[in-house]
Amino acid sequence: MKKKLKIGLFGFGVVGQGLYHVLNETHGVKAEIARICVKNREKKRSLPAGIFTYEAADILNDPAIDVVVELIDDAKAAFQIVKSALEKGKHVVTANKKMLAENLSEIYELQQTHNRSVLYEGSVCGSIPILRNLEEYYDNDLITSIEGIFNGSTNYILTKVFEERKSYGDALKGAQELGFAESDPSLDVKGFDPKFKLTIAIAHTFGVFVKPEEIINIGIDKISAVDLKYARENNLTIKLVARAYKLDGKIVGWVAPQFIPADHMLANVRNEYNAVLVQGAFAEKQVFIGKGAGSYPTGSAVLSDISALTFDYRYEYKKFTQGDALPFSSDVLVDVVISFTHKDSILPADFESFKGGYQGHGLQYMTGSVSLVKLKELSQRNDVSVILAPELNLSSIQKVEEKELLSA
Ligand code: HSE
Repeated sequence: MKKKLKIGLFGFGVVGQGLYHVLNETHGVKAEIARICVKNREKKRSLPAGIFTYEAADILNDPAIDVVVELIDDAKAAFQIVKSALEKGKHVVTANKKMLAENLSEIYELQQTHNRSVLYEGSVCGSIPILRNLEEYYDNDLITSIEGIFNGSTNYILTKVFEERKSYGDALKGAQELGFAESDPSLDVKGFDPKFKLTIAIAHTFGVFVKPEEIINIGIDKISAVDLKYARENNLTIKLVARAYKLDGKIVGWVAPQFIPADHMLANVRNEYNAVLVQGAFAEKQVFIGKGAGSYPTGSAVLSDISALTFDYRYEYKKFTQGDALPFSSDVLVDVVISFTHKDSILPADFESFKGGYQGHGLQYMTGSVSLVKLKELSQRNDVSVILAPELNLSSIQKVEEKELLSA
């Protein structure tokens, strides 16, 4: 595709406006936004009225438009736009992680059927160029694990709570004011948003299309004062980690809060920054860090996809088409610290292997290994907070708390 691309844009919110700005500032990309379809007729717009339309058909039926860029909030409506655009012979760029995660295998099929491309680098970790790297660079290396901080809002909240001792509510408000949070912020704080991103990443890392409901997500919304105290006293921080790796002939994965030691590669990834830690059999560990939310960072990833279309780029889904993908499973044991307020909320019998606990001063927690499925169930109890601790020696941490009990 050598000519200048004509873009029909759906949505003119945080990312749509970011894209408009970065496209205007960049001279190397041969593309122009010809039409923008928006929903709200009352909203004051920063561009002349003539560029806007309220009818999807004005873009979808316009043969002069080559590329549909879909940046709306509503995942169901977004999928209809993507389908219609492909049926009409247009390429698509989207950053809608929920829509992609829920429909990825159908979107793969639609691309084959209509011989058109759907690109979505901006959907996973904002500005970090991870999908094209998974597709192209890690084409031959055997990736054993992908993990990281896949949500900017929660990382911003955790940073503010830890470093500035802000309240959770104030920190969340900050993430909303800065345009990082979803319009329904429970998608961020309960771990759904990073789960959608993990679903997409798993397809490009391991070649398996998993439904998001198959992946367990536990959020940061119940992190307690005990957890924060515990982390501070043990030189740890807490991050919401999305993770998937090969284990005994299957792919296991989840999203959950995790204690991170100060010297861990993810420890200093702060505020709305995201990080992706890839482990390959040969390359070993590599980390990508970049802004995971916000108008211009996400707009720049969308622009990069538009630019890729100018040279006819398509995802090949190589790991999927190679046909030897492993099945996804949540059947795995995880090391965890569970804190709770009611005495019998959690019992040693809940653990596959119980390592110890602490009780006193109205605080209590237990540590050990639990099945992931059981952990999800425990995490839904009102007074319970769970934080994974995969790289910690839980029994040595318990001793720290015993010392504290003696000195208290
Ligand atoms: N709400 C998302 C986040 C936006 O905070 O990461 C970027 O996907």
